[in-house]
Amino acid sequence: MALLSPSVSSLLNEVRTAGEIVEGLSPTAAAAKEPYWDRIADAFSLDKRNLNLNSGWTSPSPRLVTEAYRRYRRLEDATAYTMWQTLAPQAETIRAGLAELFGCDAGEIAITRNASESLQILLFGIDLRPGDELIATTQDYPRMLTALRQRELREGPKLKLVKIPLGPRSPSEIVEAIESAITPKTRLILISHEIYCTGQIMPVREICRMARGRGIEVVVDGAHSFAQLDFKRDDLECDLFGSSLHKWMYAPKGAGLLYVKKEKIPSVWALMASEDKNRHDIRKFEEIGTHSSATRLSIGEALLFHEAVGAKRKEERLRFLTTYWMDRLRGVDRITFNTPQDPKLYCAIGNFSIEGVDPVKVTDYLMSRHRIIAAPIVHGDFSGVRITPNIFTRLSDLDRFADAIHSYLRNGGGP
Ligand SMILES: Cc1ncc(COP(=O)(O)O)c(C=O)c1O
Repeated sequence: MALLSPSVSSLLNEVRTAGEIVEGLSPTAAAAKEPYWDRIADAFSLDKRNLNLNSGWTSPSPRLVTEAYRRYRRLEDATAYTMWQTLAPQAETIRAGLAELFGCDAGEIAITRNASESLQILLFGIDLRPGDELIATTQDYPRMLTALRQRELREGPKLKLVKIPLGPRSPSEIVEAIESAITPKTRLILISHEIYCTGQIMPVREICRMARGRGIEVVVDGAHSFAQLDFKRDDLECDLFGSSLHKWMYAPKGAGLLYVKKEKIPSVWALMASEDKNRHDIRKFEEIGTHSSATRLSIGEALLFHEAVGAKRKEERLRFLTTYWMDRLRGVDRITFNTPQDPKLYCAIGNFSIEGVDPVKVTDYLMSRHRIIAAPIVHGDFSGVRITPNIFTRLSDLDRFADAIHSYLRNGGGP
């Protein structure tokens, strides 16, 4: 990792010192310690005019990350030499840091610009033939489904979409739904670790196990799970995984991670061509031409921030916040949840519907009357409002949101 500047060191120390408030507490107990989370919120420069409950899109970075980013930008602007010879090689320390967090070898991690790039490397890079079959779910991220549809149009494999239940009785219901779509022609399954629109956490390990036994590749979309949930590669038993780092890792915008199991690297084509001598090298996926090193290097400071807060503590706080706002709306007439209610199956993302009301109307109301940012989800399977707090969200913020919804309903909130 590059040497920290004095101002970044001092900001990081503030986060570490705040940890004394929750020392000795389990992550679940620490999740409810407001004085600690107030200090964590202070590590971000937040927009005071609007209440951001749409961290499902992307997240602001803590100040120490933005500060580091500015410094790297200044340094790389000095000369092309500084950029290529001094800064670019330092990305190897970032690769090592990401590999440690994911629990794999550094030679299995590529640094990309976002989850879209990581996942498209995989979805376009695996050889397929006309007649092969691909499986995804109706709730996978639209851009990833578009990638598979383009392969379908261009090369003739057939895409099958599986509808997954919104409130499964158990995760095995999902595994069974996917298993029942498998035929001898199935070559690839795309699965989201955490569904972008409902927040449902999927049984990835069981799907990977089931597919491995049949020689089917599984591409795991971990855009939301990485650094939101505390897990390692071995918990998923996956071979192919992609994520964004500007979501829950809080890196600057334009940072992503790609994991390819060592033995699989040679058989996945790079999206931008790389010389054949690089066939076995994970860096072949990074040959994208001139790009800024600043974004990549400040992933290092984001990793330090993540570590200072603590991966499990962060996960439990995010789950606690979702449970908090859902509890405030639970049992209210006309409100239903599109997120499973078992806390093991959700974390930062939750989704609710108001019976008979277009979610766009609800989010327009929240923004125009209360300056609250939420995301309307209009999907073929359901419609609802997605609420995504973050570790800088206070309980008073969630009360403000819940009060706004109660007031909407009291005033006859209609379509
Ligand atoms: C499940 C999922 N996959 C992929 C993406 C794409 O991420 P990015 O826009 O960072 O490439 C998103 C973005 O929200 C997502 O939610």
